[in-house]
Amino acid sequence: MQLGVCYYPEHWPRDRWPQDARDMMEAGIRVVRIGEFSWSRLEPSAGDLRFEWLDEAVEVLAAAGLKIVMGTPTATPPKWLVDAHPEILAVDENGDTRGYGSRRHYCFSSPTFRTLSERIVRLMGERYANHPAIIAWQTDNEYGCHDTILSYSAAARARFPAWLEARYGSVEALNEAWGTVFWSMEVSEFSQVEAPVGTVTEPHPAIVLDYRRFCSDMVVEYNRLQVDTLRAAGVSGDIVHNFMGLFTEFDHFDVARDLDIASWDSYPLGFLERGAHDDATKAQYRQQGHPDFAGFHHDLYRAMCKGRWWVMEQQPGPVNWAISNAAPLPGMVRLWSHEAFAHGAEVVSYFRWRQAPFAQEQMHAGLLRPDGSPASAWPELLQVRDELATLAEHDTTTAQQAPVTLMFDYASIWACQIQPHAENFNPLELYLSWYSALRRLGLDVDIVSPRDALSGYSLIVLPCQVIADEALAARLSAARDSGTRVVIGARSGSRTPEFQIPAQLAPGALSELTGVTVDRVDGLRPGAEPAVTLSNGARGHALRWRDLLDHQRTSAQVVTRFEDGEPAILHQRGVSYLTAWLSEDSLVAILQAECQACGITTHALPDGVRLRRRGPLCFAFNYAPEPRWLPEGLVNDRGLLAGSRVLAPADVCIWFSDEKRP
Ligand code: GAL
Repeated sequence: MQLGVCYYPEHWPRDRWPQDARDMMEAGIRVVRIGEFSWSRLEPSAGDLRFEWLDEAVEVLAAAGLKIVMGTPTATPPKWLVDAHPEILAVDENGDTRGYGSRRHYCFSSPTFRTLSERIVRLMGERYANHPAIIAWQTDNEYGCHDTILSYSAAARARFPAWLEARYGSVEALNEAWGTVFWSMEVSEFSQVEAPVGTVTEPHPAIVLDYRRFCSDMVVEYNRLQVDTLRAAGVSGDIVHNFMGLFTEFDHFDVARDLDIASWDSYPLGFLERGAHDDATKAQYRQQGHPDFAGFHHDLYRAMCKGRWWVMEQQPGPVNWAISNAAPLPGMVRLWSHEAFAHGAEVVSYFRWRQAPFAQEQMHAGLLRPDGSPASAWPELLQVRDELATLAEHDTTTAQQAPVTLMFDYASIWACQIQPHAENFNPLELYLSWYSALRRLGLDVDIVSPRDALSGYSLIVLPCQVIADEALAARLSAARDSGTRVVIGARSGSRTPEFQIPAQLAPGALSELTGVTVDRVDGLRPGAEPAVTLSNGARGHALRWRDLLDHQRTSAQVVTRFEDGEPAILHQRGVSYLTAWLSEDSLVAILQAECQACGITTHALPDGVRLRRRGPLCFAFNYAPEPRWLPEGLVNDRGLLAGSRVLAPADVCIWFSDEKRP
């Protein structure tokens, strides 16, 4: 469990570097990320390489005892490069070229940019491959930030047909898979397929889905190019990328397969404003962030590289990019840091060391203020440093599987976005709501992709597995047969991978497992909310989406009905099917009953409190703006390491747990 920081030596005078390095060490920081936006300083004009300043920065940081993460600088192609190769620029859906002047202006498909990237990455790799202080390399920076995955550049359009040919083999297969006979869209050559933009009305959904897969694969290829280049240059350390929050535009599982460590950039306050929460929730958590925002992403990215993950950028104060940028409640920087470690992070690295007095992010806090004096997070950083020293005396390395796992699928999210069918059907919000319901029950949660192993779980939940094939159904059946309980949400199995309605109707490949057949869908506009009373007496409602079933072809038992008589929950041999998007309180009640049925212990946590275990330790976090009391009997008082049963706002309690696990 180590602390880190993002540092930009090129922003500060050289004679300040040694002091910065000493102060980092003094504050308990051991890992420093540098370099990721430095291209114009490394190569001010084509071929004019100036690495000496970076050599010196590396030496200064290394001499102080810091370990370095070297970022490749490709997220910011400099002006000379764009002027010489304007074809590298991405093009948006209106056909407008995304111009130079900020960052991330390149198109992932561009062969020119790939060649130029390979060159600068190779030069950096060769220069620093064997430096003992450089422990890891970061590829680029935040793939996709500022909506940069979908590009309709000439390069992307030229590449798409070849990608389709590799996927479908023949145009006949493509026409069949897509159903291009509809509206006379059949093609006789792959080259006739156009990118799905600029159409009079909605483009063909199967083409849109494949275009999104294609753009995702372009990120995979681009990242792999950087990884392969670094390895060929002799780099042997870990390779990492910093993913983002609330971002689903490419399949992160696919990109992460080429990495050693997944990391992500945690900005809980900025993302509260961007999230789909109502105003009351945003007001309640204005200075803390939503209690499940960080936890969800920790668990998602932990799933990507065999459990190895970091927070590469942790918000240390107000950010600059949300609609309203709140200052964190005192204590939150400490809470966010411990929470990441509780979920298994190896490193928590703050963004950034010192607030820049210039440029776009001058209103973004750092650990130091623009004048170099400590900013508000500083005392919290020192407290975390001291607390980590105490925790380090104990074995916190044991990875442990959570009792429950949630299946997360990027292609299913894209499918919902392509045909929402009901106003406000935001699939990521639905996934987060299921995750929240589980976490409100005090559970540790793993996340899996549809391709991951499913063994060892007491409970598997699939909130919205729109695209399901026979292979997934077989793996779920096998898990069920070995005693795992499965809960499947509405809309699951409603499309084939080719974006067609399955031959046996929804839930398609999951029909046999669930014992359910969907007859039709009732898209629920805002305010249309069929009510339901659950077995424990809790009342809830459906929103946005409700499957209405074909009763003749449904063999599962109806467990609960909506007040209008339609089934809400069905069950068959260890598998439950929820027919609707259900309000979060009802999900809590339903999932609690499911846990009870498979022997998982749950806790009635006060509002805003979350738990997480790491090895023998249990952590509790209070996101509420008021004090909270942990349930009687939960905390082992003899094993207290920090805090107490009474949690002030933004407070953390850590203890040795003697809790029984299933
Ligand atoms: C991240 C990015 C950083 C910085 C930060 C500000 O998205 O990686 O470079 O811009 O946001 O919050």
